[in-house]
Amino acid sequence: MATKIIWLLRSGLALGLAASTLGFSLFPLRQSSAAVTGGVHPGPMSRAQAYARAEALTELGRKMFFDSSLSASGMQACASCHDPHHGFAPDTATPVEMGGAHLDRPGLRAVPTLRYLQAVPSFTEHFYDSEDEGDESVDNGPTGGLTWDGRVDHGYDQAKIPLLSPFEMGNKDENQVVTSLSKAAYSGDFREIFGQDVFGNARDAFQGAVEALSTFEQSGADFYPYSSRYDAFLAGKGTLTAQELHGREVFEDPAKGNCSSCHLSEPANDGEPPQFSDFGFLGLAVPRNMAIPANADPNYHDLGLCGPQRTDFKDRPDYCGLFRTPTLRNVALKKSFFHNGYFHSLRDVVSFYATRDSDPGRWYPKNADGTIRKYDDIPEAYWGNLNQDPPFGRKPGDPPALTESEIDDIVAFLGTLTDADQLPGPAQQAAH
Ligand code: HEC
Ligand code: HEC
Repeated sequence: MATKIIWLLRSGLALGLAASTLGFSLFPLRQSSAAVTGGVHPGPMSRAQAYARAEALTELGRKMFFDSSLSASGMQACASCHDPHHGFAPDTATPVEMGGAHLDRPGLRAVPTLRYLQAVPSFTEHFYDSEDEGDESVDNGPTGGLTWDGRVDHGYDQAKIPLLSPFEMGNKDENQVVTSLSKAAYSGDFREIFGQDVFGNARDAFQGAVEALSTFEQSGADFYPYSSRYDAFLAGKGTLTAQELHGREVFEDPAKGNCSSCHLSEPANDGEPPQFSDFGFLGLAVPRNMAIPANADPNYHDLGLCGPQRTDFKDRPDYCGLFRTPTLRNVALKKSFFHNGYFHSLRDVVSFYATRDSDPGRWYPKNADGTIRKYDDIPEAYWGNLNQDPPFGRKPGDPPALTESEIDDIVAFLGTLTDADQLPGPAQQAAH
């Protein structure tokens, strides 16, 4: 509890500072928000009105994000799975979280970080990147969208998923969420922003709720501070150790890690810091995770882009097994990796990249006759979709793509991507 209060105070301060650099004070605006925000469907707004509305929605969304009364169990908030002290990913090592009215329904996927989502483009099947080696005619294929399969484009549509999912916050419908909101301590703030009679129209109130959550998720101080040691290094304001620098080299070397071909590590042409993802969809054949209860059914396969959670591409076998490339910012804070949370250490993840194809017996289970059940979470019909570029694509018995010390160096480099507010410091230590 104490931890959360300190975090709220600190980020409140950061927002106040951000507002004051824009030349006006935050607090008078917040008090007069009712006058300027204009209900759930505001008409045209001046810049100052739009800013004030965003500010008010951010603070409302922040309160909602930590409010467990918005779940059917009364015990689960967004922050229960997306812990602000772990880059908005869980602080647990379980591959999937429990949810639902009695917190007894297991999820299907590992919980991703919510940091740096502001950079995720809307989903498209054909992505042409103007920065792609200077050639805009290259089709990078399916790219973007939120969740591991990119099935929603906007934070306000995404927020509906956990609020209503039977294995997440478990509300049976929008009305249930709105009823809880109308009883929340901050229901007055909600009415002030969206109109005094907003709770009389459940559709509008629900729309306001998800808009507040998604506006909070766009708060830079909370969600994209760019405060890692690597950011300081890129800005010429900090140094990396020799090991970290070597890790970066191997991470970027197309013949070695080749990691930066998907997890972009250099600033964009306009100087924007790197996001450590190009948001493309790829098939890596992460081993099947039997710790996910749904996987007890041998006929169940989470195939990402082609379903079953995403439904619009269920007739696209060429999309089966593909998942959206995640950012690697704050990845060292995670305890479960990949869409199915199969791995629990960063070193194992990087070792898997280095030896998936040269030593598959290290990662995949064996059949009764001793043969290796390679790519065991992807039916063979879809193996053609799997990525075979370096560091993959070696033959069994080949040397690994990375030596043990290169793996250590990449792990060290990934450690430089943790934001400053997530590192143990005086404030955090006092709070724990
Ligand atoms: C029970 C755990 C749980 C709770 C509670 C939860 N989430 Fe999530 N969240 C997940 C999982 C799991 C995913 C990945 C889902 C998928 O890929 O299908 C996810 C994905 C997301 C994403 C997309 C991230 C990305 O990389 O594209 C956003 C945004 C998000 N959640 C916001 C929220 C908000 C807002 C709330 C509260 C209203 C919330 N979550 C509550 C587990 C949870
Ligand atoms: C071809 C594109 C591609 C390349 C190359 C690549 N990755 Fe990834 N990376 C992905 C995708 C896609 C995922 C998610 C896959 C999944 O969950 O099934 C991922 C996931 C990860 C994760 C897990 C992140 C999390 O939040 O769970 C880590 C860590 C990671 N990659 C590190 C690396 C490193 C280190 C390298 C180089 C050795 C590398 N990647 C090379 C595409 C790539």
